[in-house]
Amino acid sequence: MALLQKVVGTIFLYVLTKAIYLIYLHPLSKYSGPKSWILSRIPYLVYMNSGKLPFRIKELHDTYGSVVRVSGDELSINDPQAWRDIYNRRDMLRPSQWGGRPPGVEAHSLISAPAADHARFRKALNPAFSEKATREYEPVVRAYIEKLLSRLDVAATKGPVDIVEWANFTTFDIISEITWSKSYGCLDKATGHAFMGVLLHFQAFLVAASIKYFPWLDRLLAVITPKSAFRLLEDIFQDTHERLHARSMIKEPSHADLVGHLKLHQEQAADADKFREAEIEQNILTVIVGGSETLTTAISGAFHHLLASPRVLSKLVHEIRSSFAKEAHIDTNALSKLPYLNAVIDETLRLCPPFPDMLRRQVPASGAIIAGHAIPSHTTVSVSCYSMFKSASYFSDPDSFLPERWIDGRDGAEAREAFHPFALGPHNCLGQPLARMEMRLMITLILWRYDVGISKGDSLRKWDEQKIYWTWEKQPLLVGLSNVDA
Ligand code: HEM
Repeated sequence: MALLQKVVGTIFLYVLTKAIYLIYLHPLSKYSGPKSWILSRIPYLVYMNSGKLPFRIKELHDTYGSVVRVSGDELSINDPQAWRDIYNRRDMLRPSQWGGRPPGVEAHSLISAPAADHARFRKALNPAFSEKATREYEPVVRAYIEKLLSRLDVAATKGPVDIVEWANFTTFDIISEITWSKSYGCLDKATGHAFMGVLLHFQAFLVAASIKYFPWLDRLLAVITPKSAFRLLEDIFQDTHERLHARSMIKEPSHADLVGHLKLHQEQAADADKFREAEIEQNILTVIVGGSETLTTAISGAFHHLLASPRVLSKLVHEIRSSFAKEAHIDTNALSKLPYLNAVIDETLRLCPPFPDMLRRQVPASGAIIAGHAIPSHTTVSVSCYSMFKSASYFSDPDSFLPERWIDGRDGAEAREAFHPFALGPHNCLGQPLARMEMRLMITLILWRYDVGISKGDSLRKWDEQKIYWTWEKQPLLVGLSNVDA
């Protein structure tokens, strides 16, 4: 009994001392945040795993201001200057919980790599996604959107179509075709590929990240988890391996692709700059995930807000249909000059950012000045796109879908500085030119061919009613399509 009392007493003393340290003495104690979050990681993880973290972070910024202490060692920063101070630095890497490698994988990807390897990967991958290389992909992107339209022609005769599902098939097919000249065939089969379920299962990814906050649990699970639990992941690696092998047999593919660019890189680069085989596979999977789900969000987000705002929809349809004499004249170069279309896209990325969650980074040993604050080493810092883009400090009427704000400049220069949906710096989005091309072409060609509307009896939910597991958990979006030429 006495021993038990001693143990309980010691634990109590430890917890009390730690609480006093965290709240009053810790280097981050000058930053405010909810006490329960500062004392324990649990509330943060509960919000995260119930799909509500970005919404809660926004509320915390509204309560506590631009810098919020969201955990003992983590700050969320809602100041445009933070974009440059955090993401332009090569030594600000993802914290270990967020930059891990899949179980059993030794090779790094862009997400997990230390700074030098990351720079080597980007040097090899950037040419494949430059503006120039992306222009060469336009016929491929166009062909898959044509295929989508021919599928929609049929599907729409039976009733409203789920734009989320069809956008998902299209973006997955396009990124796989651009990667290794062979798509996953989703549009052909009008069904998702089995791997999409695993690759895009972000809830599982969040659970894995949560466990990493408790290293003892992480180690225990690594020991007791049977190998069979990772069989699907291994199947994906095997399939990737086989697809790469099949692509290497093709001497002259019918169009430029990522593997072709990498082959050239491997032939021309100095040994130290070359990719290792396993690194190619891991990075290709990163590109496939990064280049599909994000665009599905953007396309469905655009249609969601267009349907919810008939004024914007009719203005956009007018711009598109009055700018071209026939469908064949539509191309991305011309679309890049349509002001309203591009404003609709930016406004979509503001309200439905494909990465709404926090873009976490760890302050290096030298510390950092972020938005004027001296932040100690090993602090996790982040900007949350959701909080920043919906902030009333930078955007007027922040909850409304108003593409005009990007044309008439009503929000001033600070809005542009706050708005970086593709992030900044050495870890910014690799596929921004491709993303803009796909969004412009897909939205335009759908609105060129169809009048779109919500079917009688259907109603739109609010976009923000959807949960966020790192990215949006998108519910079906049923759209009635009627062919303009029919
Ligand atoms: C609207 C569409 C897209 C948006 C808004 C978007 C946004 C972003 C953002 C914010 C990041 C930084 C993530 C972080 O710091 O943790 C990122 C990284 C990345 N994106 Fe995109 N993305 C889009 C489409 C694409 C496409 C089409 C590709 C295909 C190539 C792509 C490939 C990547 C890759 C590989 C990274 C990791 C880069 C690195 O760590 O060096 N993304 N994206």
